[in-house]
Amino acid sequence: MKTITIITPDDWHLHLRDSPYLEAVAGDTARQFGRAIIMPNLNPPIRNVEDALHYRDRILAATSLVSNLGTNQFQPLMTLYLTDNTSVEDIEAASDCEFVFGAKLYPAGATTNSDAGVTDLSKIHGLFEAMQKHRLVLQIHGEATNPEVDVFDREKVFIEQSLSQIRRDFPELPIVFEHITTHEAVEFVRAGDHFLGATITPHHLLINRNALFRGGIRPHHYCLPVVKREQHRLSLVEAASGGESHFFAGTDSAPHSQTAKESACGCAGVYSACCAVELYAEAFERAGDFTHFETFMSRNGADFYGLPQNRGKITLNQQEWRVPESLVYADSKLIPFMAGETLNWKFQQ
Ligand code: NCD
Ligand code: ZN
Repeated sequence: MKTITIITPDDWHLHLRDSPYLEAVAGDTARQFGRAIIMPNLNPPIRNVEDALHYRDRILAATSLVSNLGTNQFQPLMTLYLTDNTSVEDIEAASDCEFVFGAKLYPAGATTNSDAGVTDLSKIHGLFEAMQKHRLVLQIHGEATNPEVDVFDREKVFIEQSLSQIRRDFPELPIVFEHITTHEAVEFVRAGDHFLGATITPHHLLINRNALFRGGIRPHHYCLPVVKREQHRLSLVEAASGGESHFFAGTDSAPHSQTAKESACGCAGVYSACCAVELYAEAFERAGDFTHFETFMSRNGADFYGLPQNRGKITLNQQEWRVPESLVYADSKLIPFMAGETLNWKFQQ
């Protein structure tokens, strides 16, 4: 049987929710990944170091059983949620805390649980300045929020209207442009220096916007930023598989119950954590080139964040298997990405 062995990877963009849903999903990530950047968009959000440390304890408790089985203890890398009221002191405390690795910018209204996000970027220039000074990473949900902007253009417009300006004003502020979805984002990041990186999800590597409407509306393919045209997917595949240092794995695995997804107004978010590494392997398999798989999964993100690479290894076997149709999600059910479909690489437990 063919196998691939790589340094234990990290997930540089992950939603774990909170109890009791946290307990339902955290093990999926802890089994496959060494570390993960934990998104702070709980309700209410993680606004300061104190919130982050308590949430970290809950995540460690939820993953202790799984990580105790392996050689490496899974490490949650915490982030703060920037609001109009975040203070420079909050940023300083975050940069002094060994467990906090960034602060996330959600333009208000851009996505799930972003209502408390920033309403006007000019209000938080002082925070950007402090983050630049302390080299605290700014993780950005890069979509314009003006409702008149076409939903498929929101990332491109955000680059033109906001991100370019942030980069000009704060050239040494480390920025991760999260879950990029367009050719324009790939080009923008590629043209940047080592202060700019980007995460790419498995679903944006595997599907284009046709998948949203194949035979009917497909709520389990709906996430934000929404999947784009095939030409954009191809750019993302090229960026991920090409080994360029700017690009790294970040699943944006974002669980919502089956009922919240299958509704007249279904939530945005794709759940991929249960087979995340296998999905990335599938994308590289389809691209026909595993040369830089380890670089994308296990090296580039750690280098960007200035962290050592993980010490362990994981192995994937070339073996057909089916993604479960559904998973238990506390009192509800969770439909994973590609539920019931066949994948060609299986994580070796
Ligand atoms: C995320 C969520 O559900 O928390 N949803 C999503 O579609 N990606 C929020 C986000 O990252 O935008
Ligand atoms: Zn996300």
